[in-house]
This record gives sequence, structure tokens and C-alpha cells, in this order.
Amino acid sequence: MAKQTVQDLNVSGKRVIVRVDFNVPIKDGVIKDENRIVQALPTINYLIDKGARIVLLSHLGKVDHKDPTKTDADKAKNNLAPVAKRLGEHVMTRVTFVSETRGAALEAAVKDLKNGEIVVVQNTRYEKGEEKNDPELAKYWASLGDLFVTDAFGSVHRAHASTVGIAQILPSALGFLVEKEVKALSKAVFEPEHPFVAILGGAKVSDKIKVIENLLKVADKVIIGGGMAYTFLKAQGKEIGKSLLEADKIDLAKSFMDQFGDKIVLPVDFMVSAEFSDTCDRKVVDKDHIPADWMGLDIGPKTLELFAKELKGAKTVVWNGPMGVFEMKPFAVGTIGICDVMSKLPGAYTVIGGGDSAAAAIENGYEHGFSHISTGGGASLEFMEGNPLPGIAIIQDK
Ligand code: 3PG
Repeated sequence: MAKQTVQDLNVSGKRVIVRVDFNVPIKDGVIKDENRIVQALPTINYLIDKGARIVLLSHLGKVDHKDPTKTDADKAKNNLAPVAKRLGEHVMTRVTFVSETRGAALEAAVKDLKNGEIVVVQNTRYEKGEEKNDPELAKYWASLGDLFVTDAFGSVHRAHASTVGIAQILPSALGFLVEKEVKALSKAVFEPEHPFVAILGGAKVSDKIKVIENLLKVADKVIIGGGMAYTFLKAQGKEIGKSLLEADKIDLAKSFMDQFGDKIVLPVDFMVSAEFSDTCDRKVVDKDHIPADWMGLDIGPKTLELFAKELKGAKTVVWNGPMGVFEMKPFAVGTIGICDVMSKLPGAYTVIGGGDSAAAAIENGYEHGFSHISTGGGASLEFMEGNPLPGIAIIQDK
């Protein structure tokens, strides 16, 4: 059954709590990538135009409530104030930031809202009960609104008070971003036009077991790069030197290759380095010649050629996870190469499943080179695993 969307709600004059994912990278108080703020604007602007009184909730980073020596520092680091300020620069209405997550100041600010105005509440993770979906906290936040809209695609895999708890109490709907993400990812993963090629990278096999399993069933080819490729190479009995290895996943990699050997495409050469550093000696070696005391930190040029060949003619391509340590320039070549190849595939439906690969594409100027770049990291991974996402499942059906 289809979920209600924000357009199904009568929002005029109502207090609408919107859970957004404003978990953006911030360094020294400066927002490094505002994509998630920009992607939330269609819902926010719609609500402004309809005269809703908007209460925005978001988390930012992590706040450690178990170790009290860390809590205050985490809160200081993950203060949502700069995000609220940036939002104010994007919208034509009054935006009030409340630096607390509950209490008289917040209640007064919500009461003071005029139609079309916004209150941004402090980082939801300032509250210990947020990640536990504490019912008392959810009830309190729900008391600040009449309706609930989830537009935090990046957080819909979390059953927290602000993502699920409030929706258990208030009439609820999906925002435009969540609707768009679900459509785009469903089209790629559940109704792909073939040939369908998946590209998986990132550090660990263990993070992606279910995604690999699921995509091996539905894709025609699964290209594996990034740190996790070395565990597959090890499973083939190759010397991988000091490259990243998950020893306890070698058997699993072997079993994937036994069952789906004809679908799995592995790198054939690597950029290796003497140390985990961008200033050390580095060179390209083929897969049979990784020196015992070196480590692979990126795919090599022959691999990029091979992957490009596999991608040629694909009608659907889904990519999740970088090909190397792209944060260090010398090892970003493979990841940027994939951006380039994918963005030039004629007639293909191309999707980046969020996280690091999305950040790499946007940072390197490929933000318009794909059919869809997800704003979710963990959320899009879980979506691709075929799991129901609690933050969507809880939303009312039409
Ligand atoms: C993300 O960055 O993937 C989302 O904002 C979720 O963040 P989390 O993993 O800290 O819940």
C-alpha cells in the first residue's frame, strides 16, 4: 500500500514537525557540503507556501551519552546552529534556532510561529532517549506538532524517537525527498532494466554482506573494488601484502565466488603504497604481484579499463562505496574514474547509493552526471539489502 505524502495532508496553519537529515560535514564551524540541506528544500518550501508552522528536527553527528567525559565535547562539536543559519540563507521566511531540545524556550518559539515560519530545534542526539526511541521523549516532541513528515531519507533506517517515535503518535506522511529516494532506488534495485551492473566498494565486506548477496541475485554483474576486494583476492589464494583484510570473511568471499563466479568482477591491478600515507612511495602492480610489505590503496588503470568494459551497454548501474582511499588524492583516481565512466554511459539509469561515493562524486564535480545520487549512506545500503526501513514503514498508508 502506498504511503501518505505531504501533499495528502492539510497543513495550512498546522504545526508540522519535519524530521530532516541535516547531518552535514562541518569543519571548524564551516559546512563542507550542504547537499542534504538543499535536498530538503522542496518539502520545506512547499510547507512554507502552504502556510504550515514548521518545526524541524535533525540529528548531527554522534553524541556519546555512555561516557560522560565525552558528552559535552560531542554536543559542542555537533551543535546544529550553523546548519540553521545556512537554512535561513536558502528560504524566504523567518527561521528561529532553539539551542535546546526541550523546555520553555522551545515551547515559546513554537507557540510564536506564524504561518510559513520555521523553528529549527537543536540536534536531536543531545537527548539520551533519542537513539533508544524513548516513548516519553517522542511524546514530548509530538506535543509540539499536529502532523509529522519524514524527509530524512538518510535516517529512515534508524528507529529513533525523532524518526519513528513521533510517527507512532501523530498523523504522518513522507516528504518529497524520501518519496524521490524511494522511487529512484526502487527503480534501480527492484525493477532494473538489464543489463544491470552493480559496483561495490568501500573498506569492509562485513558492512556489505547482505547488499552483495541481494545484488548478486538481481544484477548481471557485480564489480567489487575498494578495500573489500583484497579479502576476495585472498580467498583466491593471492598475496595481498599489508592490504586491508577481513580474515573471518575469507570463507564467505570464497562462497560468493563459488556460487556467482561468473557475475563477480574483481580488480586486476592496484596502486600500492609502502604505508598508509599519500607521501610514501607508490606504484601500480598487477594482482599477482602485490609486494608482501606494501598495501593496495586504489584500483589500477587496467582495472578501470576492465570495469569500463563491463559497464559498457549497461542499462542500470548502481554504485556504492569508493574504489580506494579517495580522501588521499593519489588514491582517488579509481573512484573519480568510476564517476567519469558512469556519467558518460549513454542511456543508462545510474544511481549512487549515498555515503562516500556520493561525496566523492559531488566533490569532484559529477553532481549532475548521474540519474540519482542518494542522500542516504546506511539508509540506501539497507534499502539495497531489501530490508524494510522503520522510518518509512511507520508512516501511514494513504
Ligand atoms: C548518515 O550520515 O548516514 C545519516 O545521517 C545517519 O547517521 P547515523 O549513521 O549517525 O545514524
